[in-house]
Amino acid sequence: MNSINTRVLSPHSEGISEAARILAGGGLVSFPTETVYGLFANATDDTAVARIYEAKGRPAFNPLIVHVPDIEAAKKYVELNDDAERLAAAFWPGAITLVLPLKADAGISKLVTAGLSTLAVRVPHGDAAQAVLRESGLPLSGPSANPSGRVSPTSAQHVISGLSGRIEAVVDGGTCAVGVESTIIGCVGEPTLLRAGGTPVEVIEDCLGRKLGVAGEAIVAPGQLASHYAPQGAVRLNATDKRDGETLLGFGEVVDADLNLSPSGDPVEAAANLFACLHQLDAMNAQNIAVSPIPEMGLGQAINDRLRRAAAPR
Ligand code: TXA
Ligand code: MG
Repeated sequence: MNSINTRVLSPHSEGISEAARILAGGGLVSFPTETVYGLFANATDDTAVARIYEAKGRPAFNPLIVHVPDIEAAKKYVELNDDAERLAAAFWPGAITLVLPLKADAGISKLVTAGLSTLAVRVPHGDAAQAVLRESGLPLSGPSANPSGRVSPTSAQHVISGLSGRIEAVVDGGTCAVGVESTIIGCVGEPTLLRAGGTPVEVIEDCLGRKLGVAGEAIVAPGQLASHYAPQGAVRLNATDKRDGETLLGFGEVVDADLNLSPSGDPVEAAANLFACLHQLDAMNAQNIAVSPIPEMGLGQAINDRLRRAAAPR
């Protein structure tokens, strides 16, 4: 692939207009959402979408989330049942993605859905994301803006270090507030958890008034490959000690931690810091990484999901 000059754009009007112009012309632009930085292209343009897979080195069977500015825009592409309407009203814009039946004449590229009859849709929060979506008027497909299998980016610098030379531009809108990807809910039939993420499962179940279904054996969110979100070093989870040669990623009051996700033991703060800490471990060239236990509650579930993937055999 030929290297291109990746420009850094401001999150103000000039930068946003330029981002929208590049996207309309079939280019790739990364910008921040409240969860992570995404790598975006016009979801109705096959060639533009193909370039996302190429830039990330992503397996072609893995479908993408389409981002729209509001629920009305979502309805151009998907059918919302009562549960979906309720979740969208409660959580959009926000860190939740709904997998819904795709409308036949929606015009979304088959490369986005990987041929499925459903589409994953999200209305992201965040000034830069909302501004680009509204200015471009396009549905934008966007995975996280990292090379496939690597740690997701939560700053423009992370995007540059992973994808510089492969994308036209990145809008530098600062650090992502939530820090882990959206929660994905399958809304075809009974609402089902497909990926834990930035909106805690407990809060979603409260909104629906019942428990979420659990995804079966088949990989329903095909992106859920076992090894993912991986730093370079080997990862040991639930570490209550620090062994020789290990770099310790702490949580809560841990005296010998090299880095700490949240010294006060706050899962929200830990989620926001997670990917930056994993990037930092790479920068420190940590070969053996130990991670303190993190309670499986609230955002702890999403954090542990990402850490289990980071620890999975590669
Ligand atoms: O927070 C987020 O969700 C970020 C930001 C950029 O929006 N995006 C993100 O995208 O995490 P990505 O591509 O890394 O993860 C999308 C996940 C994958 O696991 C994929 O398999 C699943 O969504 N997915 C997409 N379309 C699907 C569909 N129709 N049915 C089931 N799963 C789907
Ligand atoms: Mg990703």
